[in-house]
Amino acid sequence: MCKIATRLICWQKLHGRHHLPWQGTHDPYAIWLSEIMLQQTQVSTVTPYYQRFMQRFPNIKSLASGPLDDVLALWSGLGYYARARYLYQTAQLIMRNYDGKFPRQLDLIQQLPGIGRSTAAAIAVFAFGQQCAILDGNVKRIFTRYFGIEGYPGNRKIQNRLWNKASAILPDNNVNGNIEIYTQALMDLGATVCTRSKPKCVICPLQKDCIALREQRIDRLPTTKSRRPLPEKETVLLLLTKQKKILLEKRPPKGIWGGLWCPPEMTTCKNVTTYCVQNYCFSIIVLDDIPPLHHSFTHFKLRIYPKLLEVVSPIDSQQNNIMWLTLDEALAAAIPAPVRTLLKQIGTNPIFT
Ligand code: ADE
Repeated sequence: MCKIATRLICWQKLHGRHHLPWQGTHDPYAIWLSEIMLQQTQVSTVTPYYQRFMQRFPNIKSLASGPLDDVLALWSGLGYYARARYLYQTAQLIMRNYDGKFPRQLDLIQQLPGIGRSTAAAIAVFAFGQQCAILDGNVKRIFTRYFGIEGYPGNRKIQNRLWNKASAILPDNNVNGNIEIYTQALMDLGATVCTRSKPKCVICPLQKDCIALREQRIDRLPTTKSRRPLPEKETVLLLLTKQKKILLEKRPPKGIWGGLWCPPEMTTCKNVTTYCVQNYCFSIIVLDDIPPLHHSFTHFKLRIYPKLLEVVSPIDSQQNNIMWLTLDEALAAAIPAPVRTLLKQIGTNPIFT
């Protein structure tokens, strides 16, 4: 067996992670859910979300019968909400097209919404023990360093090179469980040793043959994309309150925070005392200007100017895409992370105490 695979497997047995909540099962549903949650998100963040999600939706059938609002509520704070919508959509597709059974074939797994090549491979490995190569961000970092590969790993050519390497060094498939240990080793090494900054090369099982280490190029690899600073956008969030309740509206399915519950938004701030929300007009008193909040998305930064307002005119909230909630109810709903921060912040305001 190739050196790197042997070293990784030995290292994982001794120093890898063995008690993660999604380990010790071959249930493709549990593994699929964990892999989706773990995309761009750390184990420590994912763990409580995963446990709550598995309790509420223990299998494909329960997830497929939703409702999506409950799925989004359980995802609230984890970010990248498209993942939750795809998860729900995919559960329904599996019920419809695969008789409720998660497909086993790599190409079929990869065709499911929200599942890319590396995630499909991770599921095929952990659920079905198949000999497949993974290449997520952490693994790209390990391989660009180990093989000394320059060039941005998102670039098609570099990516193809990395996939070829990843496939070439898989462990032999004659030992039961090797592929799972090997795959977990890559994930563990990327998360705990071959980290982006301050990698722990002195304890790395691959240090002997790592080209970047030998040539003192660790700091320069993987090559970063030369990027312009992210554009900045601004918005005003209207925290409309009445009788210790706050108004949230459901955002349209597309766009940022699609399908989540948010305070109404204004794109510009004007010094007026009446705001229109979903065709209803309220008279309001401005209670407080809350310090702005900064939030980063993949493609832009958002500066949020919150305004705490009290609605004084009668209101009618018969529309089903707006609702008045107590702060506790709002915190349990499908809300994005910055809204959660704001709600916690205004909880100490005298109008809520
Ligand atoms: N990152 C992606 N998949 C993972 C897994 N199964 N365990 C730990 N970290 C991961």
